[in-house]
Amino acid sequence: MAGSDETFEELSGAEKVSKVCLITGATAGIGQAAAIELAAPKYDFKLVIVARNKERCENTVALIKQKHKDAKVDYLVADLSSYKQVRQLASEFKSKYDQLDVLVNNAGAIFFSHRESADGLEMTWALNHFGYFWLSLALSDLLKKSAPSRVINVSSAAHRRAFLPSMDNIGKEKNQTGYPTYGNTKLANIWFTRELHKRMFANGVTVNSMHPGIVATNFASDNGLFGNLFRAAASLFWVPVEKGATTIVYLATSPLVVAVSGEYFENEKISKPSKLALDDAMAEALWRKSEEITASFK
Ligand SMILES: NC(=O)c1ccc[n+]([C@@H]2O[C@H](COP(=O)([O-])OP(=O)(O)OC[C@H]3O[C@@H](n4cnc5c(N)ncnc54)[C@H](OP(=O)(O)O)[C@@H]3O)[C@@H](O)[C@H]2O)c1
Repeated sequence: MAGSDETFEELSGAEKVSKVCLITGATAGIGQAAAIELAAPKYDFKLVIVARNKERCENTVALIKQKHKDAKVDYLVADLSSYKQVRQLASEFKSKYDQLDVLVNNAGAIFFSHRESADGLEMTWALNHFGYFWLSLALSDLLKKSAPSRVINVSSAAHRRAFLPSMDNIGKEKNQTGYPTYGNTKLANIWFTRELHKRMFANGVTVNSMHPGIVATNFASDNGLFGNLFRAAASLFWVPVEKGATTIVYLATSPLVVAVSGEYFENEKISKPSKLALDDAMAEALWRKSEEITASFK
């Protein structure tokens, strides 16, 4: 779904001196490794990291400054599974910054027992899908104003085993957790990417999703025995966090993807997602359902 270069050249206009990048889930794992790399002076980003714990945010800022002493980095604290907190985060961000060049929706998790968000949504859906949906929409005006700008949604190859026949039970499942629900939310990341691409590309905003690989992070910890078994199996394939972060950094910075949008990436290359992920009627249905659920919180 690469788009016309013309649109982007027109929108590029005046050269920007400095760019702003907001990255979620940057206190650990893939997000932290990506944040450390994106803070390198060569990219000229003002980096805003987001996570739910102030101390861990401060530790990450310190870590980034250890690596790049002149790094421009700020943090904002929010629980991204909560609609209210995501709205607050977006308005705080807008009160401090009047541009957003790159948004990386990365914070995500798997839950092996049923948990509910502050809004009563099943937690995997709340964090992995609604967190991305709410934040991207709340910042969409700024992304358009900052065009050419980029949205990167961290998905997973786990979407390939997902099977979500309808939107009826999104966020309401009581009996389903673990890998099936996780896979469904990662499929949702690709549907969301494709639908957001349709709505934003004409405004100069590219939207892509990606799989980081199977990466040695805290992922699935804090999940008891099932979490430990899952991690033991995954550890056979683990790659280091720096490797997991490379496709995020590529999508955030490479001139080669300035006008590429609506795609799914693995290892810095466009990859074909599952057949179901390419079903744009489902992508549109997910969008409508997400709007409907969100409207019930207002
Ligand atoms: N690891 C893999 O093999 C793998 C494979 C495919 C895809 N992914 C995807 O990669 C992304 C990052 O995963 P990771 O492996 O780096 O996991 P991780 O090490 O567990 O890091 C997750 C990050 O998200 C933050 N976070 C979690 N819940 C949050 C919430 N409610 N509100 C705000 N921030 C929250 C965490 O903050 P705290 O410091 O507060 O915990 C942490 O910074 C996820 O979307 C995951 O689905 C991972």
